[in-house]
Amino acid sequence: MEFPSAIRERISELSEEYDIKTLIRAAERISEGYRSEQGFSASSREEIIAYASVRMPATFAAVSRALELSLEVFGGKISTVLDVGAGTGAGAIAADLLTDCERITCLERDGDMLSLGEEFCGLVGAPTEWVKYDISDGISERAELVVCSYCLNELNGKTLRETLERLANSTEKILVIVERGTPKAFGEIKEIRKTLEAFGMKVLAPCTFSGECKLPQKDWCHFTARASRTALHRKLKNADAPYEDEKFCFLAMTREENPVENSARVLRHPIIGSGKITLELCSADGISTKLITRKTPLFKQARKAKTGDLFPMEK
Ligand SMILES: C[S@@+](CC[C@H](N)C(=O)[O-])C[C@H]1O[C@@H](n2cnc3c(N)ncnc32)[C@H](O)[C@@H]1O
Repeated sequence: MEFPSAIRERISELSEEYDIKTLIRAAERISEGYRSEQGFSASSREEIIAYASVRMPATFAAVSRALELSLEVFGGKISTVLDVGAGTGAGAIAADLLTDCERITCLERDGDMLSLGEEFCGLVGAPTEWVKYDISDGISERAELVVCSYCLNELNGKTLRETLERLANSTEKILVIVERGTPKAFGEIKEIRKTLEAFGMKVLAPCTFSGECKLPQKDWCHFTARASRTALHRKLKNADAPYEDEKFCFLAMTREENPVENSARVLRHPIIGSGKITLELCSADGISTKLITRKTPLFKQARKAKTGDLFPMEK
């Protein structure tokens, strides 16, 4: 899904308040924090503008794709959303565009991130209410869809467990967690999944089943979302390409049985040969490689399949 142009334009206006070198240095600090797998805690307003320029389009693309894949399986209506660690509003805006929600509550502890997020949500008419709040003090709000993107990676041990319990208790229908698409983050997502299962939740996506992950220990499950880059973004990242591919891991949890438990998830880019397609699939039965030829009834569907899609399992 395309990042809203009204927000792009506002980011470009805001960047004019700063000398470009100041923003480049701020963007480098953010990239360095990202590479070293630390979280992002803004230390200045220019860092927040740099975050909105170089990270928000990518986090928006990743959350949008994670929500699309989760809502496709869920299939129901969402009227209320809670975005936890909402930052500049990427998750709230994605949820607004992908659901018919009437109310979105955004919890954010940093006052400057919050003001910018509130302004961006106003620009696109997202029905948000922003609350300056540190979730380590508990979460009293509840919503049908709870989104927590790029926020849990700084937590571990008891604090992470308590936060997950709060997120589970706040969720009326679906909880969607999005994190960086790295082997380390995938390991963390597997632990998060175990903890949430212990709180009685079940996996909705990307897995079509609950319980142990079927991937071999050294492998990692991640997805990609494409975000286009503005001229400002390219300048701040010293990059030429007009887009970037954001790798992300995600987890959608619910309390209901998974409605697509007889389907598989396409794990990698399909290999297309003459009259045949090879898919790598993950399902409750494990990881399998499936060769689909023209004679197979699923050939048409296999031809359209992309990484992350659901694919039927023949019994
Ligand atoms: C990397 S940003 C992600 C923002 C947004 N969710 C996104 O996907 O672009 C992480 C955000 O979580 C917020 N955050 C981290 N810990 C928090 C806490 N304990 N309570 C509230 N917000 C928190 C930070 O202030 C920051 O804005």
